[in-house]
Amino acid sequence: MSKIAVLTSGGDAPGMNAAIRAVVRSALAKGTSVLGVRNGYAGLISGNLTPLGARDVGGIIQQGGTVLGSARCPEFETEEGRLRALRTLHQHDIEGLVVIGGNGSQAGSHALSEMDFPVVGVASTIDNDLYGSEITLGVDTALNIALEATDRLKVTAASHQRAFLIEVMGRNCGYLALNVGIAAGAEAIVIPEAETSPEDVAQEVRNAYKRGKTHALVVVAEGSKYNAHRLEQHFHENRKRLGFDLRVTILGHVQRGGAPSSADRLLASRLGGAAAERLIDGEAGVLIGLLGGKVAATPLTEVAQGKKEIDPHLWELAQVLAR
Ligand code: F6P
Repeated sequence: MSKIAVLTSGGDAPGMNAAIRAVVRSALAKGTSVLGVRNGYAGLISGNLTPLGARDVGGIIQQGGTVLGSARCPEFETEEGRLRALRTLHQHDIEGLVVIGGNGSQAGSHALSEMDFPVVGVASTIDNDLYGSEITLGVDTALNIALEATDRLKVTAASHQRAFLIEVMGRNCGYLALNVGIAAGAEAIVIPEAETSPEDVAQEVRNAYKRGKTHALVVVAEGSKYNAHRLEQHFHENRKRLGFDLRVTILGHVQRGGAPSSADRLLASRLGGAAAERLIDGEAGVLIGLLGGKVAATPLTEVAQGKKEIDPHLWELAQVLAR
């Protein structure tokens, strides 16, 4: 291949820039030039592209976000949008595309692949809900940001003998909440994968007080049926009966910002480099991720159908360690 393109799509994740850099420099090492697509699939549809040389990706490995910009692009979900994107790729003589993104973005990769265009995905989302990679770009950084915030809340919770609830990101997935909960020593964790009612949470907190704890931390995934807003409302309305209140913090997009951790920079370099090399060597229609600690390719058709599950042992461990 003499020319490929790279784009970042969906929610940005710390490490995307390191992956762009790896794609560009690995492709150049093979004699292939690279175009960067601005703002994800939207830029592919409108033809917003820019050449990327080795110096253009200098000094970005340590930056969060994505220098190419990202977007959620409903237009690309239509056939018309995808045909326009394909037209842009052909107009610029692009022979292959690297898509750095999560579930929605890789559904887009799959769609382009089905239209016979060579695409390789790079597993990237702070949610860690993408089938085909045990860990995705941005997860380590987001975990550490959420953990630092939770540790800070624990300090004030301890000083005031209070119960605090912290909501972390995770649209449909409790990976961040479960891991932050274990690492922060939470008394209760609420995730979409396990049904937990507000009364269950109240019971956990009450039990913790009975066991001699003076304060409590509850970590909730945003995608849970009872998210922070619903739990807060329940606890507020039942304050007298429950005998305690919950102070609520919603971390939100703070978790997606910040400089990528060393783990994310290294993962991004490995996955981005492999994606470019494999694409240029003729492999396409796959997602590049980490499986068994090694860089591995999973067909995009499998990625589109597969569902990543929470580790049940980790969930059990969280209950044991909360005692
Ligand atoms: O997919 C990553 C993620 O950060 C989710 O955790 C969250 O639900 C969603 O993106 C938020 O998306 P947006 O930034 O488009 O509101």
